[in-house]
Amino acid sequence: MPRSFLFGTNFKMNQTPAESAVFYQQLVESLQIPPDIHLFVIPPYTSLSAVKDVAGWQPHPIWVGAQNVHWAPDGAYTGEISVGMLRALDVDLVVLGHAERRRYFHETDVELNRKVLAALGAGLRVLLAVGETAEERSFGVGGETVLRQLRIGLHGVQPEQLGQMQIAYEPVWSIGAGGTAASAEDVEPIAKLIRAGCEDLFAGSGTEIPILYGGSVDPSNAATFTALPDIDGLFVGRAAWTVDGFVASFHTGY
Ligand code: PGA
Repeated sequence: MPRSFLFGTNFKMNQTPAESAVFYQQLVESLQIPPDIHLFVIPPYTSLSAVKDVAGWQPHPIWVGAQNVHWAPDGAYTGEISVGMLRALDVDLVVLGHAERRRYFHETDVELNRKVLAALGAGLRVLLAVGETAEERSFGVGGETVLRQLRIGLHGVQPEQLGQMQIAYEPVWSIGAGGTAASAEDVEPIAKLIRAGCEDLFAGSGTEIPILYGGSVDPSNAATFTALPDIDGLFVGRAAWTVDGFVASFHTGY
């Protein structure tokens, strides 16, 4: 089965509900979306309801995602959000394991695995982010890190849940304002490793999982990543935080 092309952005800790809703509305008006692709917007939790109001509470070709979720169905976890709460908002997708969650909030691979299983079990799509730090790369163990994150993150996922899974390869050293954009030569071997890792975990069906690239993507470099055979889409931060930037990055990358 051919893999879908995916493209989307994560607002991180930016945008009020009203700003996110205007962004989504303008995006819908700015794009003709080909049937074989999926776009997504991941605003802060507080914007989810406002954006879903714009999207309509029906399946929409621009998915609305959440930036995190807790693994427990409910309980004494102050400040956390459950899969049931996301389901009640008809959220389409949740990103797990973003480098900022791993770095600033010390999320471990094992915790992320619990979150992946909880989200998939609740019927949510999951975008699991993996990526090595500059230090790991400098010691030549970038590939090992990514494979460890992948193998633990996907442990216990059932083959019939793979249609809900997507992976984002985001080298930590390439993300955000201080990041250095990766080259296609940097990305290609790791994307191949992720593809092989998925196939190793889910023989015969692992190749169905789309792999996105993220980290300092913008209209000038988007196409270099999507030209790679193992890259099926882009996960963009800063360059897609304006509607024009989102549209330009999508058009050059697709
Ligand atoms: P960036 O962020 O595109 O601003 O580097 C990417 C990300 O954090 O996913």
